[in-house]
Amino acid sequence: MSTVITGASGHLGRLVVDQLLAAGTPSAQIVATGRDVGRLADLARTGVSVRRADFADPTTLDEAFAGAEAMVLVSTTTVGQRFDNHRNAIDAARRAGVSRIVYTSIVNASTAEMALADEHRRTEDYLRDSGSAFVILRNGWYLENYTDQLPMITKYRALLGSAKDGLVSAAGRRDYAAAAAAVLTQDGHLGATYELGGTPFTLTELAATISDVLGTHVAYRDMPVADYTATLTAAGLPPEMAAAVADADAGLARGELFTAADDLVKLIGRPATTAHEAVQSAAATIDESR
Ligand SMILES: NC(=O)c1ccc[n+]([C@@H]2O[C@H](COP(=O)([O-])OP(=O)(O)OC[C@H]3O[C@@H](n4cnc5c(N)ncnc54)[C@H](OP(=O)(O)O)[C@@H]3O)[C@@H](O)[C@H]2O)c1
Repeated sequence: MSTVITGASGHLGRLVVDQLLAAGTPSAQIVATGRDVGRLADLARTGVSVRRADFADPTTLDEAFAGAEAMVLVSTTTVGQRFDNHRNAIDAARRAGVSRIVYTSIVNASTAEMALADEHRRTEDYLRDSGSAFVILRNGWYLENYTDQLPMITKYRALLGSAKDGLVSAAGRRDYAAAAAAVLTQDGHLGATYELGGTPFTLTELAATISDVLGTHVAYRDMPVADYTATLTAAGLPPEMAAAVADADAGLARGELFTAADDLVKLIGRPATTAHEAVQSAAATIDESR
């Protein structure tokens, strides 16, 4: 029997596969799926089964999930179509006889008002009502959402946002992937909903951390949501993505990306990556590539 990891052609799913392999799961028991199987070619060489699964095309899913006992359902990127995507995946998993589904949701999914939470909330409800055994991992914000911006932040010496003085309990993708591997490989998690997040910080504090690591002053510049949306669009983000990112920052300001829960630390058995550690390693990567 095998475990299917969806979104393995992306960052988080790939890290879940890596963590399962590192934990000793035989590669022959792992099925890595994505829409673009070309991005899974190196995994195929390790003995992991690689299959195409496009949640928007249910005809691809029966074959992709055949023979699996467990699944990590990584939420898709297609905002607006995500609930339909996830429902198709859950239905296909049940047809294939998958008996445990681990879904990667968003922190505070049941109460958050930001637009991004809606499809997660609907997916959680659908999964709970589906009759499948499940674990819901409500992942907090990725530290990489910030460290990926480091070249721009360095260039303009400014971190932009609409988060006011809200706290964000961000952690690294690697931490969230370790949590997914933990609930797959340990007993006792079925039916649980975990709120996952790392050490909280405000974006003003993050700017101070970046200043400290880079040795140059970086300021946090807070702006109204409409202005931040326009700035992100002007920087090249598709308009709907820019609107979603700025809206999520408004949610951050309301406390929707903060959690005091220690579920992540408990699941992974170590502290989550801190903002300081993430900025340090991202800065080192930038330095190396110069
Ligand atoms: N917590 C956060 O801060 C945060 C930030 C951004 C995103 N997210 C959510 O977390 C998820 C994982 O993050 P990530 O960084 O790994 O994202 P990522 O690198 O963009 O990977 C997304 C994955 O989803 C797959 N996918 C997209 N649409 C699909 C569909 N219709 N059917 C099947 N697979 C589909 C992609 O497959 P292909 O590449 O093969 O098309 C890819 O493997 C994202 O998809 C998003 O829902 C969370």
